[in-house]
Amino acid sequence: MVITEYEDGVRDNVRKARQAGKKVVLIPTMGALHEGHLSMVRLVAADESERERERTYVVMSVFVNPLQFGPGEDFAAYPRDLRRDAELARQEEVDLLFVPSAQEIYPPGSQTTVQVADLAAGLCGAARPGHFTGVATVVTKLLNIVQPDEAVFGQKDYQQFAVLERMVADLKLPLRLRLAPTVREPSGLALSSRNAYLNWEEKKQAAGIYASLRAAAELIGRGQRDAAAVADFLRGALERETRGRVEYAEVRQKKDLLPVAAISKSVVLLAAVFIGRTRLIDNLIVEV
Ligand code: PAJ
Repeated sequence: MVITEYEDGVRDNVRKARQAGKKVVLIPTMGALHEGHLSMVRLVAADESERERERTYVVMSVFVNPLQFGPGEDFAAYPRDLRRDAELARQEEVDLLFVPSAQEIYPPGSQTTVQVADLAAGLCGAARPGHFTGVATVVTKLLNIVQPDEAVFGQKDYQQFAVLERMVADLKLPLRLRLAPTVREPSGLALSSRNAYLNWEEKKQAAGIYASLRAAAELIGRGQRDAAAVADFLRGALERETRGRVEYAEVRQKKDLLPVAAISKSVVLLAAVFIGRTRLIDNLIVEV
């Protein structure tokens, strides 16, 4: 595995991989790698025969992107452990690890950002103004540096995926995005780098998020089609099960995250909950 901090290092290595006839896949992360991140590397390997994997060049980026953190958020506290991340990436047979500095991505004088309008405004975007502009901007830069055929994102951050799909379509970027299923602890808690902030008691509370999403999905399974009733039920379950502060509990169309009144097509249940001072998000797709 090659590790580079530099854009030019990425371009040189990717060019060589291309010359060798390889397909290039990008997996962007902020590091503090866990099984959720690693599952995305395995997803790339899994649906390909061994020969195909040899013809695939996997690039992973580790960059705690300052632009997607708001003032008062956890940019400074965000867990960073490059040595461990590099070891895990190497074990998963990542080909190239890109670990840029903030300077490399945002050289002095930078003033261009990428903004997705409506999709980035609600849900997490409402509570974190500018967050998705930070995400869309850094992902655009990473895509332009790596120029992959595919990029992989996790369902754990479903709105992020929806925003990036919109961006790729709107800007006619020549690649395919892939969605990787959410990896969970046995308790149901979705893996997240931010789980490191939770103590033992809070982790138990946090497991209530997935339990509540499941209960709301069962309500739909039993025939409830009134989205407002499902959302109310979800909020109540989250309050009861997590004893945290619910930021949002919503039922949205799976396709475009627009609000729904009567559930007739596939929906996604989405929640953001503060457990103590830690903000956690999760979601569940319900096919109807
Ligand atoms: P980060 O939170 O490190 O997540 C990197 C990728 O891993 C994202 O696509 C995320 O959805 C996925 N992921 C995280 N937890 C997961 C889990 N439990 N199961 C499956 N996938 C999971 O998301 C970001 O970083 C950043 O916003 C980024 C896209 C890198 C831009 O800075």
